[in-house]
Amino acid sequence: MHRAGVSRSAFGRLPDGRPVELFTLTNAHGIEVRAMTYGAIITSIRTPDRNGTQADIALGFDSLGGYLAGSPYFGAVVGRYANRIAGGRFTLDGVGYQLARNNGPNTLHGGARGFDKVLWRGEPFEAGSTVGVRLRYDSPDGEEGYPGAVAVQVTYTLNDADELIVDYEASTTKATPINLSQHTYWNLHGDGRDILDHVLTLNASAFTPVDSTLIPTGQIAPVAGTPFDFRRATPIGARINDQHEQLRFGRGYDHNWVIDRDRPGGGGGALVHAARLEDPVSGRRLDISTTEPGLQFYSGNFLDGSIKGKGGRVYGHRTGLCLETQHYPDSPNHANFPSTILRPGQRYQSRTVFAFTR
Ligand code: GLA
Repeated sequence: MHRAGVSRSAFGRLPDGRPVELFTLTNAHGIEVRAMTYGAIITSIRTPDRNGTQADIALGFDSLGGYLAGSPYFGAVVGRYANRIAGGRFTLDGVGYQLARNNGPNTLHGGARGFDKVLWRGEPFEAGSTVGVRLRYDSPDGEEGYPGAVAVQVTYTLNDADELIVDYEASTTKATPINLSQHTYWNLHGDGRDILDHVLTLNASAFTPVDSTLIPTGQIAPVAGTPFDFRRATPIGARINDQHEQLRFGRGYDHNWVIDRDRPGGGGGALVHAARLEDPVSGRRLDISTTEPGLQFYSGNFLDGSIKGKGGRVYGHRTGLCLETQHYPDSPNHANFPSTILRPGQRYQSRTVFAFTR
């Protein structure tokens, strides 16, 4: 039996000298989650397999240096706008905005220096067997070209139901698009093998097809009869090499699914089950519920063995996958998508729950 708790330690310094802190959350079953103040990044998640053997099921680096040297958003909170904005351009209340284009012709995950590359402030908390850390960041007006000063808070909570709860809150001084997500790369084997044998279920009857630069066409397309139908548990590798234009554009899966809800077309709301990921080898299972309307499933297609991560492990092709709960990509340019505009006086609130079983 373990004792639930949260501890705080130093995790190096940024090039400008500011110290980075690491918070270690542990529950009574020995599940351990570590998160740091740089990028609000989850650096590791340790869970038991069916035999009780612990392993780290999240990709990342051993030290801060790895993250600073260049990370494909391992474990980070992505924002101010998670995912892509076409041409880095949008118009809001009649005013045009131009963002940095950091992904071909488009803006990805907030721009050149998104929320994954800034220093947050962290405060741990403990309430009985529930432990966590509250991370805050004040994004100045005009940061990365976005209007309004935005105060953001992300809370990671670990409880004895073996759930990691991620709560997002934000407010703004001017109308702005906002879309926050968590970019953990999962590998339920807890080792260097690829994730093609992981079995995925998505509670989604539709997805948003994209163009060759991964910007949604605006269409909400049914998944029925396509390799995008994960309504029944299916190994990720089963159809990933099918001849399908969308798989070619994504180089695999890199798309937004429209989560099924009682009230379709809504901008999210109640917590619903969105995804289940199972590893038949280790017996680990991850269930994801969210208040968000969409989920980007990215099958780690850009991992190519050029990154050396924790313990010197080389992250080869598709050795991690992301399940990013979010609003749809490029929503500021699609009137038919649920709105991502936050206005002064409103409160942005979003929750995603990661439940670990075996
Ligand atoms: C997101 C995108 C992917 C890729 C990764 C980071 O998930 O959708 O295309 O850019 O981030 O490598």
